[in-house]
Amino acid sequence: MHLLLEIPVFFLVVLYSYLEALVKLFIPVKEKCVSGQIVLITGSGHGFGRATAYEFARCQCKLVLWDINKNGVEETAEECRRLGVTAHAFVVDCSKKEDIYSAAEKVRKEIGDVDILMNNAGVISPTDVLSTEDQAIQKMFEVNILAHYWTAKAFLPTMMKNNHGHIITVASAGGHIVAPFLVAYCSSKFAAVGLHRALTEELSALKKDGVKTSCICPMFINSDFVKNPSSRLMPPLEPEEVASQAMKGILTNESMIFIPRFLKVSVMLDRFLPTRGAKALWKLNKLKFDFTIGYKDKEN
Ligand SMILES: NC(=O)c1ccc[n+]([C@@H]2O[C@H](COP(=O)([O-])OP(=O)(O)OC[C@H]3O[C@@H](n4cnc5c(N)ncnc54)[C@H](O)[C@@H]3O)[C@@H](O)[C@H]2O)c1
Ligand SMILES: *[C@@H]1O[C@H](CO)[C@@H](O)[C@H](O)[C@H]1NC(C)=O
Repeated sequence: MHLLLEIPVFFLVVLYSYLEALVKLFIPVKEKCVSGQIVLITGSGHGFGRATAYEFARCQCKLVLWDINKNGVEETAEECRRLGVTAHAFVVDCSKKEDIYSAAEKVRKEIGDVDILMNNAGVISPTDVLSTEDQAIQKMFEVNILAHYWTAKAFLPTMMKNNHGHIITVASAGGHIVAPFLVAYCSSKFAAVGLHRALTEELSALKKDGVKTSCICPMFINSDFVKNPSSRLMPPLEPEEVASQAMKGILTNESMIFIPRFLKVSVMLDRFLPTRGAKALWKLNKLKFDFTIGYKDKEN
């Protein structure tokens, strides 16, 4: 088609998507049924991962729960069984590729093909960049992003073969907007958002439209992950509340899920406002959390 013809087509598509979004505001989208599906959640021994495991258990899913914390993940599994579903707990260190590959092999052999993969395990180290231990920087990248590659390599092939499945990337508000004293954390979460977006395009290019992708970007969660978080415009939410909002997005195949929804507006403003304006918005929001500063100006 000639470019001059394609431009009006482009505007029509944009108009159509706005109208579609408007209609969807009033007509709730039907949630998909995931009953009986195998759901694997990493880092499900505590916090948001655990709360999401309970949500999937209420949908009658079979759960495969991974965490480095044995007691935590076994407790989650126990509660899922109490909710009436089968749940398998595995102790897996997601910072270790070999651990992930061998656990994945076990899951495939003993339980079956994973339908829904949720990469949720995450670590954080709130301190200035120069005082962040090399080890801690490496760990944040291993758990918060590299692990997503190893689990995808393990479970995506079957999903693609069957053109069925769902990959859920738990990123963060910090994958779109940044904060001081979270440099390595934010950059690892930006990478997770990038992985989600590029993978989504790649699956579409390969015509694997049956494999869905969702990226979950919460603001602060009261899970003790970040200590004493506060934000004026988006106060911290309980893990259960975040899980319930995330679930609605997952079951309607939403691609980018901001929690709370207002976060989307602040992300857009952050991009759109002039630098000074964006800074003023930040000031207004009064973001706070505990961090340490180890950096000192040296004499020489
Ligand atoms: N808490 C927040 O304010 C917040 C905000 C946005 C995004 N997130 C993201 O949500 C996800 C869950 O965080 P949360 O708030 O529930 O934290 P959490 O600390 O309550 O839970 C994280 C879980 O991951 C597990 N884990 C840590 N390292 C692991 C490893 N190497 N291998 C396997 N498991 C490991 C922990 O044992 C824990 O059970 C993380 O990816 C986090 O970055 C959290
Ligand atoms: C979500 O994706 C599944 C699998 O492709 C599909 O069956 C379902 O209809 C979709 N639901 C929505 C609301 O798009």
